Amino acid sequence: MDDPWMECMDHCIAVTKEAGKVIREALLKDISIMQKSSPVDLVTETDQKVETLIISSIKKKYPNHSFIGEESVAAGAPSILTDNPTWIIDPIDGTTNFVHSWFHSEQREFGVVYSCVEEKMYTARKGKGAFCNGVPIKVSGQEDITKSLVLTEMGFKPDAQNFRAMMTNMESILTIPVHGIRAPGSAAVNMCLVACGAADAYYHIGIHCWDMAGGAAIIREAGGVIMDITGGPFDLMSRRLITASSKAIAEHIAQKIQPFPCGRDDTEN
Ligand code: IPD
Ligand code: CA
Repeated sequence: MDDPWMECMDHCIAVTKEAGKVIREALLKDISIMQKSSPVDLVTETDQKVETLIISSIKKKYPNHSFIGEESVAAGAPSILTDNPTWIIDPIDGTTNFVHSWFHSEQREFGVVYSCVEEKMYTARKGKGAFCNGVPIKVSGQEDITKSLVLTEMGFKPDAQNFRAMMTNMESILTIPVHGIRAPGSAAVNMCLVACGAADAYYHIGIHCWDMAGGAAIIREAGGVIMDITGGPFDLMSRRLITASSKAIAEHIAQKIQPFPCGRDDTEN
């Protein structure tokens, strides 16, 4: 194969499908929930099982590659991006949705996000476009923020001051006005919803590199914009982002949002 990253992406899609099967089966059983850093930071045996499955499968094929996986980092593994090819893995993005039966890497080269209950496989390879189940997708192209549907999430548990800033930010966006704000419960899926034009923007302070990596590649290839919450360049380890169907909407949101401290993924917080 001419493009080694395409081969990596195909392997990623295959193992992601396998992982999706494990997740769908687990949804039919009793889910045992464990707490990580706080009562809203949850993990299940399925998160851990799926991460192990994905990493061991990739390691077998690419023994020299590096990994940043959400559950491995939770168990003490480093979360540092180096120049070595690195797989950024979130085994289940939206664990809270998973435990309530509600109802992926910035890989600079490619991104894969699998919404396994809907069986929607979002993929993007740098320079080759973004797809959902093989069908090309693109952002809405909306430029007028007053006609936009905006996504955000409230999963990050900040201190009282940060909580107020988060609510004030939502008020500032709602009163622009926009058509509405929605919080579907998975950062990765939110980015894909913007990528396929179902929503026009998504902003979030307090997520992690594994929540954003796959979606970042997909958004870019779908013609969307991704930037830092301040309007500067997107930084995968910064724990925050704005993504939108157009630069005009992303910049408007950047003007309205007040950043609050949430640490970085590559430093001890
Ligand atoms: C979470 C989801 C959620 C967001 C949280 C994330 P996880 O990921 O993306 O939408 O609000 O900040 O941590 O923990 O379920 O992988
Ligand atoms: Ca997760």
